[in-house]
Amino acid sequence: MKYLFNALASIIVMTTLSCNNADTPADKPATGDTASTKSYSLSEQPYGEIGNDKVIQYTLTNPSGMVVKILNYGGTVTNIMVPDRSGKMGDVVLGFDSLAGYLQTGNPYMGCLVGRYANRIANAKFSLDGKSYSLAANNDGNTLHGGLKGFDKVIWRSKANEGDSGITLAYSSKDGEEGYPGNLEVEVKYTLMPDNGLKIEYMATTDKATPINLTNHTYFNLSDGADTTILNHQLMLKSDLVTAVNTKLIPTGTFTEVKGGPMDFTSPKTIGQDIAKVPGGYDHNWVLRRAGVDAELIGSLYHPGNGRFVEVFTTEPGIQFYSGNFLAGNLNGKKGMKYVKHAGLCLETQHFPDSPNQPEFPNTILKPGEAYKQTTIYKFSTK
Ligand code: BGC
Repeated sequence: MKYLFNALASIIVMTTLSCNNADTPADKPATGDTASTKSYSLSEQPYGEIGNDKVIQYTLTNPSGMVVKILNYGGTVTNIMVPDRSGKMGDVVLGFDSLAGYLQTGNPYMGCLVGRYANRIANAKFSLDGKSYSLAANNDGNTLHGGLKGFDKVIWRSKANEGDSGITLAYSSKDGEEGYPGNLEVEVKYTLMPDNGLKIEYMATTDKATPINLTNHTYFNLSDGADTTILNHQLMLKSDLVTAVNTKLIPTGTFTEVKGGPMDFTSPKTIGQDIAKVPGGYDHNWVLRRAGVDAELIGSLYHPGNGRFVEVFTTEPGIQFYSGNFLAGNLNGKKGMKYVKHAGLCLETQHFPDSPNQPEFPNTILKPGEAYKQTTIYKFSTK
């Protein structure tokens, strides 16, 4: 199928209400959809330019009225509008009001796709098939989130999804880009589901063995700007272990039991309750308790005040829960908001950090002839 670059001034895609059951997660929630006469819609708006490239913002709407906006720059999710328990729509993600915000130095990976390798690789080096590779040391001597110009800072090709609501983005990462081996063809399919789920499916193939770890770096704050921090949100993570890290957040190769401690989110817990006991705040990889290979429910986030609730389903073995520790109130966010420390939090479904240097961790090497796949769903409701 032909990719629509930015030639089309606008596109409206109306599809009938349908849900592909084959794609639904193992712990599939009831759709509860009654808006059978309404349709999905997908439109695109110009969002500025980077050199000769046009930046486009896509607006996806589902039959219940949930709205998600996504840029072809970095595959960035700029807005997610969902109702609270009284039905009031609100934007539950941090971001900026214009392209300039996303392009500014110090944009802390707001809403973007992250790759070729999300999270850290120690000493910005790894060896593969007897050859050593050097990457950009962009984080305390280590590499973070794909290097200097990762997948968050490139323009993706885009096309409308067929028969469902959403867009599919594609990017060809060249052999040697940011130091990684192999020409990598990546596709990321964003789909808005009838039950207010945002499904993200990642796919990739390569012509040389390469590490790969793709995720999305959306910062959630379910208050729609009412709360300056996420410290009153409640988090649940189905995980008994975190990967232990050194002071530079590089895994030591061992695991720490969370039971009863500040990292224990096995039952929903207010984030602010124990955060002071974790030096620097939460920025760790939780090892997910999983039963199968399909996307399954591994965590949730709840705003007790307004009732907004997000359930996270994934195929991945880990999740980086990052409590926005490095936000410092110096960025002009949406509607003039200053994003202070803990203004938002990320739930980055992923493989473990530094896996290319940690042979005991689940494999992150993609070989020619293989297909990389990961699926994550953020499903919004209220309670
Ligand atoms: C990392 C943080 C980092 C942040 C950048 C997170 O995924 O875990 O350590 O500072 O991304 O915004």
